[in-house]
Amino acid sequence: MKHQLDQEISVVNALTGNPYLLLPISKLEASPANLDDITAICNQELVYKWCFRSLCDGKPYPPTMASDWINWGTEGWEKGTHFVYVVTSSDGRVAAACDIKSADLKRAEIGYWSSADHRGIMTNAVRKLIQLADNAGFRVLFADIHPENRRSLAVIKRCGFHQVDRRPTIEGHIPFDRIHSNRKGGENEKPSLRSNPNVG
Ligand SMILES: CC(C)(COP(=O)(O)OP(=O)(O)OC[C@H]1O[C@@H](n2cnc3c(N)ncnc32)[C@H](O)[C@@H]1OP(=O)(O)O)[C@@H](O)C(=O)NCCC(=O)NCCS
Repeated sequence: MKHQLDQEISVVNALTGNPYLLLPISKLEASPANLDDITAICNQELVYKWCFRSLCDGKPYPPTMASDWINWGTEGWEKGTHFVYVVTSSDGRVAAACDIKSADLKRAEIGYWSSADHRGIMTNAVRKLIQLADNAGFRVLFADIHPENRRSLAVIKRCGFHQVDRRPTIEGHIPFDRIHSNRKGGENEKPSLRSNPNVG
């Protein structure tokens, strides 16, 4: 499974046509420039609001968190426990990130963030992530999204996820699932209450 996921793939920005690269974070150097880029993006308004404000207790996202994130992501690749990718622009700068948060082939959560300076890359990058996950054998991917996170809702719908009737991982979020198209079976494979082991 790790073998199918551990790939560098080109991605095109849908708005500009510019080429980017989706690559495992283990291949990203923890250079001062990369740490600066990651720190700056994670302090941008939307990324900070939706991903880091509560984690950082309302304080700015610090550069140490960027290096911890690269280390944690690299460890995920080494141990095969979680799979973080960065998206870099043609000059090698970090533009976005996305991940598969576990190695559970039955059902794994995905996540993503993108710099506002690289609008147009996220949906296409997540689509590539989904292709990799499909090839690696993941059956259901999911994401639970805050109802006011309009841009994230748009990404997840463009990527073919469907709102489902199950309990979200975070109270008040909207649950979205995507079933691998080749793995849809009969009734039991449809996104429904029955696909969620937590709903009893
Ligand atoms: C969610 C987030 C990644 C979305 O970023 P984004 O730049 O809006 O996403 P995309 O690159 O997919 O889309 C940008 C634009 O390109 C367009 N676009 C993207 N892919 C496209 C495609 N394949 N074809 C046509 N248009 C496309 C979109 O329609 C969108 O247009 P708009 O700005 O006029 O609405 C970003 O807002 C973010 O990082 N938010 C904070 C972190 C977060 O919320 N993460 C998710 C937590 S659940």
